[in-house]
Amino acid sequence: MDGMDEIRFEGRVAVVTGGGRGLGREYALFLAARGATVVVNDVGTGIDGRGASSSPARAVAEEIRSLGGEAVADVHDVTTADGARALTAAALGAAGRLDVLVNNAGISILRPLGELTDEECRRVLDTHVGGTLNMLRAAWPHMVASGYGRIVNTCSDALFGSTGLSVYAAGKGAVLGLTTSLAAEGAPHGIRVNAVVPIAATRMSLEALQGDAPMTALLTDAFPARHAASVVALLAHESVPCTGQLLHAAGRRVGRIFLGATEGVLWKEDHTPESVRDHLAAVRSTDAFHTPDSVGASMAFSLARLGIGGTRPLALDLTTPAAAPAPGNEEPSAAAGV
Ligand SMILES: NC(=O)c1ccc[n+]([C@@H]2O[C@H](COP(=O)([O-])OP(=O)(O)OC[C@H]3O[C@@H](n4cnc5c(N)ncnc54)[C@H](O)[C@@H]3O)[C@@H](O)[C@H]2O)c1
Repeated sequence: MDGMDEIRFEGRVAVVTGGGRGLGREYALFLAARGATVVVNDVGTGIDGRGASSSPARAVAEEIRSLGGEAVADVHDVTTADGARALTAAALGAAGRLDVLVNNAGISILRPLGELTDEECRRVLDTHVGGTLNMLRAAWPHMVASGYGRIVNTCSDALFGSTGLSVYAAGKGAVLGLTTSLAAEGAPHGIRVNAVVPIAATRMSLEALQGDAPMTALLTDAFPARHAASVVALLAHESVPCTGQLLHAAGRRVGRIFLGATEGVLWKEDHTPESVRDHLAAVRSTDAFHTPDSVGASMAFSLARLGIGGTRPLALDLTTPAAAPAPGNEEPSAAAGV
């Protein structure tokens, strides 16, 4: 083993959405094998989100129990707020706590934008954005109350762009924003929020290859879904050191995907479209870049480059004050403005 202590989850309860198939199934089996009680949630849809079956969730929960682990099956649909609340209540009811949330449930409808119906666009966004957001909103108060939580969201290489992926990628982009923002909101409450960016041979990714035999063989050999489970287990563990970050789980390669800001170019006078065009290569150059970990850090970076202020992150705290007056009862304040 590389590290010092084994990553274990005794006494922890983990919810894995979409845990009945593919990557989610591997996460559920792995977390259970390492001692977690796992709530295996899966609505049992087709790849495109149509249809439902209780079989996948039940089969994985049964498989875990047959291996000596602890698991319960759950078939609520996380695309609805009611479904997410019911899943959360099921976890709390069955195991009395909720320590780990793996937002993994996903669907894909991979066609160019102009070939998608309104309903298909909504179905994809409802699953990726809605499903993740609903579960975050349902689980969050319990994690805040217990002063502990580990959340693993799911993003995708689709964020790098390709044809046929626009709405799917939009959903994953929203998940990226939820990950970085809730990392900040969760920090004072002991909640860490990261995301995995998996590449794995599952029914979803294999379908995207549209029968390309060499690519299918490559994906199946190099990217078995079980490899992503190690990364998810680390992100789900008490000891995870990072928050707000994306780890790339690509077969035996693990890396980080991040948002970066280039050093950029400074003008002594106001710039014009022409001067920006003439320096665009330097503006876009990634030879030197910075990876701000907050809005305040990004602002401070720009200000420091402009020679105004230091590099210390600016404080931007939109937390509701504890004793905020009820809406409509605000005291007039002389210090208006943000
Ligand atoms: N396979 C890859 O290479 C890859 C790459 C990047 C991201 N992802 C993401 O990883 C996640 C898992 O994908 P997979 O490849 O294992 O796909 P999969 O189709 O094998 O499994 C997804 C599971 O999610 C379930 N699900 C869908 N909608 C649900 C809902 N509303 N409520 C509960 N369960 C629901 C499905 O029934 C299915 O069992 C998805 O979020 C996907 O977008 C996968």
